[in-house]
Amino acid sequence: MKRFIATFAALAALATPALAAEGETHAPEAYNWSWEGPFGTFDDEQLQRGFQVYQEVCASCHSMDLLSFRNLGQPGGPFEYLPDLEHEGELINYPNPNDNPVVIDIASRYTYTAIDPETGEEIERQGIPADRFPNPFANRAQAAASNGGAVPPDFSVIVKARSGGAEYIRSLLLGYDSEVPADITLLPGQHYNPYFAGGVLAMGPQLFDGAVSYTGDTPQTAEQYATDVAAFLAWASEPHMEQRKRMGLGVMIFLLIFSILMWLAYRQLWANVKH
Ligand code: HEC
Repeated sequence: MKRFIATFAALAALATPALAAEGETHAPEAYNWSWEGPFGTFDDEQLQRGFQVYQEVCASCHSMDLLSFRNLGQPGGPFEYLPDLEHEGELINYPNPNDNPVVIDIASRYTYTAIDPETGEEIERQGIPADRFPNPFANRAQAAASNGGAVPPDFSVIVKARSGGAEYIRSLLLGYDSEVPADITLLPGQHYNPYFAGGVLAMGPQLFDGAVSYTGDTPQTAEQYATDVAAFLAWASEPHMEQRKRMGLGVMIFLLIFSILMWLAYRQLWANVKH
């Protein structure tokens, strides 16, 4: 027994430094999101703040090719309900997101090139809700050239595409570590982040306390920005989550009522049959 304990202790001593090995990738930090569980929904105000962080910070490098402005006003989207200016404290919904004034306003701040139907010339026009989010770079080569050779990934489905999802995004944004392990060498433009596979990332820290001005009294901290933008990206990756959950619940209730009816019918049918 003594020998067993000694061997075990020796093995444990050997294994501990290995576990804390330098350059090891950390698992994302757990976070309690509002949309978890069968009844969880997105928090619209959080999605709005997350969109603001994306727009003001991330959009200069990361595209969201699959998103149109109108998606922001669709059922389940960040701007589905707007404060009703005529009735204080009430919310208003625009069934057609193309009529949603906030969506129209966001789209109109961008310009797109179009063809003038009369002259055939290229013209600049204001964005409309049906337009896709603009891409910060003309093409992949330009994106790579502007970022030290690394292309910033598109964000349309990033939360679904990465193991750890929103928690990974949040941890990565907050996880930069200035103490670089000895076995990692950083080239110019590279940063150490233990939440990124391999630890070496071409994106530097993006979020700093106070960098984005929120209108409400939500804390303006890097942690809050990271949480909000991760929530927004989670919504973008699955904009119909709330409908999907409602449908699932409806199906379960239907099946329950249907089973009860079938059971009652079965009892009725066989009531007078000896068996
Ligand atoms: C100055 C340009 C720039 C900005 C601004 C920027 N990023 Fe990045 N980001 C990059 C680049 C470049 C990469 C690719 C890094 C690599 O592959 O080494 C990257 C990678 C990432 C990744 C890792 C994706 C993966 O492959 O797992 C995430 C997540 C990310 N960015 C989130 C954000 C968020 C959220 C914001 C806004 C708060 C943001 N980034 C702002 C340039 C930027």
